[in-house]
Amino acid sequence: MPSHPPEPFRIKMVEPIRLIAPNQRLDAMRQAGYNLFSLRAEDVFIDLLTDSGTGAMSQAQWAAIMEGDESYAGARSFFRLKETMAQVTGFEFFVPTHQGRAAENILSAILIKPGMSVPSNMHFDTTEANIRARGGRPINLVNEGAFDPTLQAPFKGNMDVARLREFILHTGVQNIPFGSITVTNNAGGGQPVSMANIRAVAETYHEFGIPFFIDCCRFAENAYFIKLREPGYANKTPLEIAREMFALADGAWMSAKKHALVNIGGFLAMRSADLYQKVCNELILREGFPTYGGLAGRDLDAMSTGLWEGLDEAYLAYRLGQTAYLGERLLQAGIPIIEPPGGHAIYLDAGRLLPHLPHPVFPGQSLAAALYLEGGVRGVEIGSVMFGYTDPDTGEAVYPKLELVRLAIPRRVYTQSHLDYVADVLISLKERAAALRGFRITYAPPLLRHFTARFEPLE
Ligand SMILES: Cc1ncc(COP(=O)(O)O)c(C=O)c1O
Repeated sequence: MPSHPPEPFRIKMVEPIRLIAPNQRLDAMRQAGYNLFSLRAEDVFIDLLTDSGTGAMSQAQWAAIMEGDESYAGARSFFRLKETMAQVTGFEFFVPTHQGRAAENILSAILIKPGMSVPSNMHFDTTEANIRARGGRPINLVNEGAFDPTLQAPFKGNMDVARLREFILHTGVQNIPFGSITVTNNAGGGQPVSMANIRAVAETYHEFGIPFFIDCCRFAENAYFIKLREPGYANKTPLEIAREMFALADGAWMSAKKHALVNIGGFLAMRSADLYQKVCNELILREGFPTYGGLAGRDLDAMSTGLWEGLDEAYLAYRLGQTAYLGERLLQAGIPIIEPPGGHAIYLDAGRLLPHLPHPVFPGQSLAAALYLEGGVRGVEIGSVMFGYTDPDTGEAVYPKLELVRLAIPRRVYTQSHLDYVADVLISLKERAAALRGFRITYAPPLLRHFTARFEPLE
């Protein structure tokens, strides 16, 4: 048997990539202020910065694009997507948005007043920022096991329901405009959430009358993990599992750039007609008319087709198998990662690989920079650069528990030999890990600083 299910597709169109010389990589990094977001993509050999919008579309999606209806209002493309949304998610109302954060912005603008709190297992960076931008407080209540990188547990993305209940009682329902959960948990290793946990979270929110929204951008991988790992789901299809999950919620937002396999797009879906009306008003102000929401008609068709392809079992088996394969190669070489491997990415544990670098000198940044310099591989720091902040009440620096570098695998883009190359680069880098230096920030904006900060290596 092969070590993981082979790609259930063959390649019809190719995009050349090239590995520039080591001195050119160093020049590129200096010019970028050592921020990997500031590199030119053509100076990157294997780009694992994100799985968002970086996937390859299928022939069926490209064909659907040609059928896009670009009417301003009431386009056929919208009604095709509406039909798919009804079948996949079951939500009565939805608006397309240009990506996930636009949906977060609209929901936050309508529901959050300054001082209010929004609990989740873990909010992702754009969700956190959108909540903070409205004066709200993002609250992460993931189970403690999520912070133990070597713990072997099937659903490390689960929310701690007892803490959620305590939090609601302590904070007061009037201060919680909505609650959420992220599937899979991107900020915590891409770990899945079980159906039992989603159900318990939904029941807790609903007991207090709090609307429950799912950040569902990776819902299909989560559904497949449930099929593989949760008793009672082995004979259900990913679609059936996804529908069961959505049925527990009052709404969902999605960055379609993940599991709808498109390069741009998103949506905000809900059951409440009253909320939908407010959402439409806000959408018209910021994104566009409710039947296109900041996208072209053809984008809606690509999304509609992609939502189905993302639920295909052969594709999901290959997808999770590919991530597990890279994780296994790294573990065999003694490279610390968050275990077990999640769905869309491998998370290198920079804290354990570089124990000589404390939080304030950004071990994840150091590892991400070294990985590019060593082999032209681009990952992203998910540690103190992304999630560190100064507590407004105490003025003290707050650091996340884990210092990670995420290697996100774009969908249907890289082959097993590309992943072998990434593993080989990391294995050679591990030999020099003790010599890697920390970094200091020379510029940072107040919100989402990781996108545009500039750094300097420490002596
Ligand atoms: C869990 C999660 N939520 C929300 C977003 C935001 O989506 P977008 O980048 O489309 O705005 C992302 C993007 O990576 C994400 O991973």
